[in-house]
Amino acid sequence: MRRRLVAGNWKMHKTPSEARAWFQNLLERLPQTEAEAALLLPFTHLPYAAQVLGDRVAYGAQDVSAHREGAYTGEVSARMLADLGCLYTIVGHSERRSYHGETDALVAQKAQRLLEQAIVPILCVGEPLEVREAGEHVAYTLRQLEGSLNGVNPPAASSLVIAYEPVWAIGTGKTATPEDAEAMHKAIRSWLEGRYGRGFAEGVRILYGGSVRPDNASALFAQPNVDGGLVGGASLKLEDYLQLLTA
Ligand code: PGA
Repeated sequence: MRRRLVAGNWKMHKTPSEARAWFQNLLERLPQTEAEAALLLPFTHLPYAAQVLGDRVAYGAQDVSAHREGAYTGEVSARMLADLGCLYTIVGHSERRSYHGETDALVAQKAQRLLEQAIVPILCVGEPLEVREAGEHVAYTLRQLEGSLNGVNPPAASSLVIAYEPVWAIGTGKTATPEDAEAMHKAIRSWLEGRYGRGFAEGVRILYGGSVRPDNASALFAQPNVDGGLVGGASLKLEDYLQLLTA
């Protein structure tokens, strides 16, 4: 009942013109698959995504302003993203939490701004290595989830995506085992049930992220509570991304 989602997080890679050519190649080779494809792009690439991908492949941004409009130099609002046809946008990625000091409270505001524009937040949570080694990863991740959803009320289960991304697995080549990912995803779903109710929790897609590649994706995506992936490095190569869509 939950449609798998394979979301590519391009981070700060490729130029807009390179992206445009890549989008064209993607459309030419897009497989018939039950999974939904999405690309989370630098702001500068979004007009080309709107032009080329249109409504054939979902796309969105990697961050958004916590403010609605005004004198906020350098910021990009949820309304601007909605105008460009963004369906999804990442909030709370660990790189923003650690390099830009984003707190749970700020992440919650950003998620709320997206929901106001009917854009689905892909909310990232996940523990650093020392927390995993101390055996505190579930409590840590659920606390982060609670803070990042404080005051956030998605109208439907389809209006929210959670991405569990253990920090130690991002860009490192180390992946959580399918069993470890499943255990955390189950804990997240049962937390969602307590907060929003059973029907809602059953409908929310929970993605795994952290060194997902064509050779490990099938085992991860086969877990009952893993509803797809948030993929960095492997989403930049067309061949790999296409393989992930059929994994
Ligand atoms: P990675 O990145 O797949 O390169 O580990 C995942 C992410 O940060 O979203």
